[in-house]
Amino acid sequence: MTNNKRIKLGIFGFGCVGQGVYHVLNQTKGIKADIVKICVKDSKKERILDSSFFTTEPADLLDNPEIDVIVELIDDAEAAFNIVSYALKKGKAVVTANKKMIADHSEELYTLQQTYQVPLLYEAAACASIPIIRNLEEYYDNDLLTCIEGILNGSTNYILTGLTERTTTDFNTALREAQLNGFAESDPTLDIEGFDPRYKLSILILHAFGIFTNPSSLFTFGISRISTFDLEFARQRNLTIRLIARAKKENSTVTAFCMPSFIPSNHHLAAVRNEYNGVLVESLFTEIQFFAGKGAGSNPTGSAVVSDISALSYDYRYEYKKLKQKSATQLNEQSLLNLYIRFDDWSVVDMSVFETISERFSSKKNHYIIGEITLQNLRKADWIKNPAVNIIHFPKY
Ligand SMILES: NC(=O)c1ccc[n+]([C@@H]2O[C@H](COP(=O)([O-])OP(=O)(O)OC[C@H]3O[C@@H](n4cnc5c(N)ncnc54)[C@H](OP(=O)(O)O)[C@@H]3O)[C@@H](O)[C@H]2O)c1
Repeated sequence: MTNNKRIKLGIFGFGCVGQGVYHVLNQTKGIKADIVKICVKDSKKERILDSSFFTTEPADLLDNPEIDVIVELIDDAEAAFNIVSYALKKGKAVVTANKKMIADHSEELYTLQQTYQVPLLYEAAACASIPIIRNLEEYYDNDLLTCIEGILNGSTNYILTGLTERTTTDFNTALREAQLNGFAESDPTLDIEGFDPRYKLSILILHAFGIFTNPSSLFTFGISRISTFDLEFARQRNLTIRLIARAKKENSTVTAFCMPSFIPSNHHLAAVRNEYNGVLVESLFTEIQFFAGKGAGSNPTGSAVVSDISALSYDYRYEYKKLKQKSATQLNEQSLLNLYIRFDDWSVVDMSVFETISERFSSKKNHYIIGEITLQNLRKADWIKNPAVNIIHFPKY
C-alpha cells in the first residue's frame, strides 16, 4: 500500500463497532481512507447512511477489485472466519475486532498471512482502545517479558466495581445494574464465566510469548459465585476483587489462567473501575508498566480499528516476533497457585489436591481454605463444579 494512495474499505457489520468506525473515520482528518461498501445481515434495518452503501452480498466486497482492505466487524465468529480467510486468500488486507474468531483460529490465520503475504491487524480485539498488541509486537520486541496480566473485560469489571464499592453485595443485583446501564449483555454468560477475557488472553499470549493456545485449554473460572461472605473477607483485609487474566513466563514455559483475584486496594489494577480495562506488563529490566483505557464501546473500539487501518497505509503488519524467537514453547500446568476456596460443606472438598494449606476457617454456613494447588490438579478437581464452591486467586503482589 503506497503512502499517497487512498485506502478503499469494504466493511462487514454496521452495529456498535461498525458505526463507531464510521464516526471516527469521519472525524479523523489525516486518514486517507474511504468506505466503498458495507455488508450487513438485515437489508430492511434503518441505517444512518444512504442505502447505496449497503449490501447483504459478501461478494460485493470480497470480489470487488476497487476494495483493498476488508474491515470485519460482525458478531458471528464462524462467518467472520470465512470472510477473513477468503479476503486474505484474495490478497486483501484485513482489520478485525473479533476476539473469538482470532483466538479460535490463530494458527490458521497466521499461516494465511504468511502464505499470501497480506496483513491481518486486530488491535481492537484484545482491549479495544488500549494499544497493547502493537506495543507487545514493537516496543517489547525482545524475549525479556516475564508477565502480562490484566482486567480484559469491561462488563465483569463494572459488576465487580458495583459489588466492591457500591451499596449492593448481591451478584444478581449488580449484574442487573450493569445491564440497565448498558455495560452487560442480556445473555452475560460469555463475560461472567470468563470466556471473553480468555479469548483475549489467548491472543496476548501469542504476541507476548509466541505460543499458539487453544482458548478452551486456558483454565477459566468466572465471577458468578462471588458471595457476600467473599466480599466481606476481601474488605477486612483491605483487598478488592477483580477478574484477572494472567500469563507468566518462567524459563520457556507460561502459566496462564483467568479467574477472580484478590488485589490489594492500593494496587494499579484495583484502580481500574467500572467498564475500564487495565493491563500490566512486566519485563526483566523495566519492572511493571501499566496501560488503562476503555475496553469496549462504539467509539473507543472504532478508534482502535481506525488506527489499524491507518497503520496499513504505511505497510504495517504483525511480525509475530516472539513466535520466531521461540520465546516460550509450552504452557506450564505444574505451577502452584495460592487459592482461597470457599464452600458450604467440608465433605465437598477433596483435601488431597492441596500441596500446602496456610489458613482454614469454619463457620455455620461458610468455610474456606487458603492453600496452594497446581494448575493441573485444579483442572482435574471435579468438585469445583459444585455451585456452592467459589475460588479466588490469592497472589502475592
Ligand atoms: N461492542 C464492543 O464494544 C466491542 C468491543 C471490542 C470488540 N468487539 C467485537 O466487534 C465485533 C462486532 O461487535 P458489535 O458490538 O459491533 O456487534 P453488533 O452491534 O451486534 O453488530 C453486528 C453487525 O454485524 C452484522 N452481521 C452479523 N452477521 C453478519 C453476516 N453474516 N454478514 C454480514 N453482516 C453481519 C449485523 O448486521 P445487521 O445490522 O443487519 O443486524 C450488525 O450490523 C464482534 O466480534 C465483537 O466481539 C465489540
